[in-house]
Amino acid sequence: MQENKSRGAFSSKLGFVLAAAGSAVGLGNLWKFPYITWENGGGIFVLVYLVCIVLVGFPVMIAEISIGKVSQKDPVGAFKVLDGIKSPFRFVGMLGVFGGFLILSYYSVVAGWSMEYIVRSGADSFRAVPRQEVSTLMQKEEMQDYAKKRIFAMQIQKPQPDNIKEEILLDAGLIQQTTKKDAIYYDQVNEQYSKNLDILPELLKKKKKLAKWQTYFYEQFLKKKDAKTKLAKILLPKYSEQSFIDFISNGKKPLFWHTLFMLITLLIVIGGIQKGIEKASKFIMPILFIIVGFMAINSLMLDKEQEGIRFLLIGMPEKLHGYSILEAMGHAFFTLSLGMGAMLTYGSYMQKHESVVKSAFWVTFLDTVIALAACLMIFPILFVYHLHPESGSIGILFTSLPLELVKLPLGMMMAVIFYILVFLAALTSAISLLEVVVTYLADEMNFSRIKSTLIAALAIYLAGVPSAFSGDFLTMADHFASRFVLPIGGLLIAIYAGYRMDKEILHKEFTDFGISEKVFRFFYFSVRYITPVLVFLVFLTGIIGFGK
Ligand code: TRP
Repeated sequence: MQENKSRGAFSSKLGFVLAAAGSAVGLGNLWKFPYITWENGGGIFVLVYLVCIVLVGFPVMIAEISIGKVSQKDPVGAFKVLDGIKSPFRFVGMLGVFGGFLILSYYSVVAGWSMEYIVRSGADSFRAVPRQEVSTLMQKEEMQDYAKKRIFAMQIQKPQPDNIKEEILLDAGLIQQTTKKDAIYYDQVNEQYSKNLDILPELLKKKKKLAKWQTYFYEQFLKKKDAKTKLAKILLPKYSEQSFIDFISNGKKPLFWHTLFMLITLLIVIGGIQKGIEKASKFIMPILFIIVGFMAINSLMLDKEQEGIRFLLIGMPEKLHGYSILEAMGHAFFTLSLGMGAMLTYGSYMQKHESVVKSAFWVTFLDTVIALAACLMIFPILFVYHLHPESGSIGILFTSLPLELVKLPLGMMMAVIFYILVFLAALTSAISLLEVVVTYLADEMNFSRIKSTLIAALAIYLAGVPSAFSGDFLTMADHFASRFVLPIGGLLIAIYAGYRMDKEILHKEFTDFGISEKVFRFFYFSVRYITPVLVFLVFLTGIIGFGK
């Protein structure tokens, strides 16, 4: 294989597996999986997800890696080699390369956020609002209202003589004159807000005018000596949210981190497959496994009631609906980096004597273990601190979670470690995204690796600039990639492997490595029938966006 020499190759199965697992393990595992599992009630949803991984993810990964391995080409070249120079499937490759370009442009911006948050955690800025900021914040009417509501909620939680409570409730509009003496209703309201401190401000939000009592408590509060210190804590959740929004729309800072992140990614990829990607993955992945393991165990020890584990195993089956199945299926694709030729590209650097099926198994296995461990790491924190992820956005990772992380034993260090984890996971995924475009330029345009890497990285960097300035733009790019490009790419790759590719080539990947005929038949059935049908459904859901 003379091409093999000039293109480079992974030195061993371990090298390939760690690099491919690096691609697969990313924000999808650390944030998106825990989030959708939470939303869909845990338990059965996890089971559905595991079935999707086995039924669809694993077979499509085998197909992608095989296409790469036998062709030893980039996603466009692979279809030309295997299916003829004018093969219509080369457009699938082009869509993939475009997908890699697009995804990395915003992925890098989000990775940059994690770098900012490593620094912020290191400066221990999630415990209280900096004192010098408190007075400035308090000049804003919005912040004053927020403080009034929080102080009010705090006060009303304290034991108060019944008649005062009644008066407060009446004033706040939570009870009416007629029901004032209704003991049952009174108890209900009482129980409700003693459960959750924040529920009252929520209820009061609906009322336009601030209640007299809120202002009263607020004024009393300000007279206290340590008011400022306390305010620094009271304002924290709002401040955290506000400073995240300020940061991501600041432009300059996100751009700085985006630049730095793309530079690091470039420096690794420019080193080539063995000296760059493989070496970085062998260094980073073990660290990543250790951090996830350590944080998961730490969280589990905190979770005395084992609510986190119970949720993962049993959960709330009633929260599972039809849409959940499609969500699990779509995520199986995303989390394994399938559908845009990333696994195909890495496969093209695999040596002939390495087994595709065994490697695919390990990559799938590691990705799944990390996703489950991420749940064990995050759920106990959600349960113990009664935190509820309200929005599907990545935001909570940077707004509420850090405030809880610093409450853990070794708080500040845990927050720093957590954002290092996010950064490393994003880095190894970014490497593979850049490599897709680099391999395309090197194979199709005959550019040298150095030239390909510089051109690809610069172009992607520039494409990411709008995302560094606007969260809306970033979200748009993400929706387009994960709802359109990935599913359609995955669908067509499965169709190619199932209907158009030489069956014998695929078959050999099983028989040559002593893998049983049964596994092959399962694989072939899946890429021919199960995957196309399911992915088509996901694709439709993504387009129509029903249920969301
Ligand atoms: N798998 C990555 C994650 O879980 C995201 C991703 C999707 C990806 N497609 C990709 C990464 C292609 C690299 C290449 O976060």
